[in-house]
Amino acid sequence: MKAARIHSNGGPEVLRWEDVELPPPGPNEVRVRHGAIALNFSDINVRRGGFYIAKPLVFPVTLGNEAAGVVASVGAGVTSVKPGDRVGYVGVGGPFYENTGSYCEERNVPASCLVKLPDGLSDEQAAACMLKGLTAACMINRIWRPKAGDPVLIHAAASGVGVLLTQWLKHLGAKVFGTVGSAEKADFVRRYGCDHPILYRDVDFVSEVKRIAPGGVVCVFDGVGEDTFMKSLDCVRPFGMLINYGNASGHVPPLDLLLLAKKGSLSVSRPAFSSYIADPQQMRDNFAELFDLVVKGVLKVEVSKTYRLQDVADAHRDLEGRAFFGSAVLVP
Ligand SMILES: NC(=O)c1ccc[n+]([C@@H]2O[C@H](COP(=O)([O-])OP(=O)(O)OC[C@H]3O[C@@H](n4cnc5c(N)ncnc54)[C@H](OP(=O)(O)O)[C@@H]3O)[C@@H](O)[C@H]2O)c1
Repeated sequence: MKAARIHSNGGPEVLRWEDVELPPPGPNEVRVRHGAIALNFSDINVRRGGFYIAKPLVFPVTLGNEAAGVVASVGAGVTSVKPGDRVGYVGVGGPFYENTGSYCEERNVPASCLVKLPDGLSDEQAAACMLKGLTAACMINRIWRPKAGDPVLIHAAASGVGVLLTQWLKHLGAKVFGTVGSAEKADFVRRYGCDHPILYRDVDFVSEVKRIAPGGVVCVFDGVGEDTFMKSLDCVRPFGMLINYGNASGHVPPLDLLLLAKKGSLSVSRPAFSSYIADPQQMRDNFAELFDLVVKGVLKVEVSKTYRLQDVADAHRDLEGRAFFGSAVLVP
């Protein structure tokens, strides 16, 4: 069995394509033959090391938290799935940054973390949409849901999470402003329902939002973090919400709560998708809702690029270089 592993933290060059022994699945475990593996920004964070890691990594580390494929064999006590079933998983329980291991051809995972994939959803699509779609769902279902006509701002609207948020919020009737890093990305997000793409590298996004919606937006969805967070407070109308869900540009600085009062009684939320799937029944219900929206075509999941798993270093370079449109996946 081959896996892409790191033996130290560092740049994409630390990723190595290696032979690894995989024992048969233990009790309550399932051996999954991966058909497609997700690329997530958190993989970059683990590869780089730093503030995300709660305790020192034990090298070598196989990166990755999310994959789709087929059940190859099952260990003692497993009744929920059988060989041949198509399945997916996002995390295998425990801290997200510690229990990685999906950048490989096959993996033993606890049966409890698996969901069956519906017909009509390919392995590539599943790998592209599970974590990112559940992150969007977590914000919309648990933190802030638009009323028809509500203006919202999505930063990095062409990102993996951003393009799903754009479609979902548009489906619920929101008027969507979306920041993007290039004219090509602006065209891309327009196709997914973004009403007002804003080239935030070229223009001041606060002025642009206020030009079109003088009162500001009701909610900002921010996965960019350091570069956008503080300025985003100036886009939100009184009693509105700023959700910071990611740090693609870096960690958000500490926030003086009094500032929220001064800016108009604003709220700030910092969700982690892992809390959204912590309860097993809730996890299955959440997956069912997401898959239903994808299979019905409400959320279009088009994989923008596939990389061979052994070329994962190239994929990391592109991800860090902001070259992705929507989601790309790894194929073993
Ligand atoms: N809270 C959670 O549970 C959760 C779940 C999933 C993801 N996340 C986080 O959310 C963020 C977005 O995830 P994603 O999967 O949507 O990411 P992605 O598809 O890789 O997109 C990231 C985008 O952010 C923008 N960006 C701005 N500054 C950047 C910089 N300095 N370096 C790289 N990209 C930069 C780029 O878009 P432009 O070129 O358009 O600027 C880039 O394409 C990540 O930080 C991720 O870790 C959090």
